[in-house]
Amino acid sequence: MNITFLLNGETVELADVDPTATLLDWLREDRGLTGTKEGCNEGDCGACTIMVTDEDGAKALNSCILFLPQLHGKAVRTVEGASSPNGETHPVQQAMIDLHGSQCGFCTPGFVMSMVAGHTTGATDHDTQLAGNLCRCTGYAPIIRAAQAVEDQPVPVWVKDKPVALPSSSPMLPMSSDDLAKVYADHPNATLVAGATDVGLWVTKQLRDLDPVIFLNGCDDLKDITVTDNEIRFGAMVDMNQMGEALADLHPSYAEMIRRYASVQVRHAATVGGNIANGSPIGDNPPALIALKATLHLRKGDARRSIPLESFFIDYGKQDRATGEFVEAVSFPRQADRLKCYKLSKRFDQDISAVCGCFNISVADGVVAEARIAFGGMAGVPKRAANVEAALLGNPWSHETIQPAKLAFADDFAPMTDMRASARYRLETAKALLERYFLEDQGEATNVLEVSA
Ligand SMILES: Cc1cc2nc3c(=O)[nH]c(=O)nc-3n(C[C@H](O)[C@H](O)[C@H](O)COP(=O)(O)OP(=O)(O)OC[C@H]3O[C@@H](n4cnc5c(N)ncnc54)[C@H](O)[C@@H]3O)c2cc1C
Ligand code: FES
Ligand code: FES
Repeated sequence: MNITFLLNGETVELADVDPTATLLDWLREDRGLTGTKEGCNEGDCGACTIMVTDEDGAKALNSCILFLPQLHGKAVRTVEGASSPNGETHPVQQAMIDLHGSQCGFCTPGFVMSMVAGHTTGATDHDTQLAGNLCRCTGYAPIIRAAQAVEDQPVPVWVKDKPVALPSSSPMLPMSSDDLAKVYADHPNATLVAGATDVGLWVTKQLRDLDPVIFLNGCDDLKDITVTDNEIRFGAMVDMNQMGEALADLHPSYAEMIRRYASVQVRHAATVGGNIANGSPIGDNPPALIALKATLHLRKGDARRSIPLESFFIDYGKQDRATGEFVEAVSFPRQADRLKCYKLSKRFDQDISAVCGCFNISVADGVVAEARIAFGGMAGVPKRAANVEAALLGNPWSHETIQPAKLAFADDFAPMTDMRASARYRLETAKALLERYFLEDQGEATNVLEVSA
């Protein structure tokens, strides 16, 4: 596969690239650009952060789980390109020096590149922007002070990359869902790569050889977000940051859950299609989408079908997806916002859910008119709490109703014990979340971030 992209302002053309070569390895081993560090090699630490600019603007990404073909037609900026060609420091770099934002320095290039990307886009939510960068020495306060200090400084001209979208250079890099449908029909056993936040780890951690590989990043029509009076629809390639922004006013609790989905870097890559297609029992989107009555849209060649999202997840590791079939989109009805999403994880930021409970309960004349409750982390698949829903339906929306309904969680789920949580914790916490939803609905503060002394 041949690819072309900008690297620190200069055009790079690569022929016959290994489709699963990571940008990090290529930068360090082929280009000698060793400023970009390798820490975890799995998207968790941010030491490898670089800035990528495409038609949507600048974004921080983890180069350790970014395959070279994902960069075709884009602009990459590494820490070596944060300062000007004449050696002028970027304001972020100067602030890090002035405000003592670095001790051992191993994490520093990654922090600097997250801050350069945040500064370029005008972001001022620094805690969120830097949640995907780990530092063991400095402590975060000086780093946050450095980010704050440059908020009002202009973006240096040399980091304003202007990539030119390029045509495909290989059938394995389709530029539309029609082209994808054709090439996937010809290679039905190929691995699809969307954001590579799962597939990247198959390569870097499991050392798997993936061949053939089809990249979806050129399929712009799979990035559409459509909001009408009746429906909200996300193309499979909509990433988590875009999804969070689109949902901020419509379903704020869902958007807040997405803010805690991995880190900015991972959210810029991870797609809703990948998060559904991987069939993970602890993916954060499926419970929320199931609670919203979502429909999954699948395509194989020219044949399309749509199914309720919950029926896609058949069993652990088994989904209702035929060989050569791909996820095209997910949609759900436009509705009054009754959704609350509760993500429980050991860390607030950048952690996979131990339990993710999503509640969407409508009340009419004081009686439960509709109840959709879905959980991740409670079974081998994302799953509805059908018995709990039945125990609520048609009954007064009251504390008396939810007590027996809580007991029905034991009929719906037999969770497992693993490193994230025990079976008992999972079951007890599911009950507590129903109580929390009820109390929150009565106007009580239930979130630790909302409670004040
Ligand atoms: C550091 C880190 C933190 C994470 N934190 C979270 C978290 O908090 N919550 C969470 O839910 N997940 C988390 N994840 C997991 C990961 O981000 C998600 O599962 C992600 O949504 C996968 O999407 P992707 O676009 O990166 O998929 P990829 O890795 O590209 O693909 C994943 C799977 O889906 C298939 N696929 C992709 N797109 C399609 C399609 N359109 N049709 C059919 N098959 C397709 C691929 O072939 C592959 O089997 C985290 C991952 C990392 C590395
Ligand atoms: S090396 Fe840790 S996120 Fe890439
Ligand atoms: S300065 Fe040492 S890890 Fe951050």
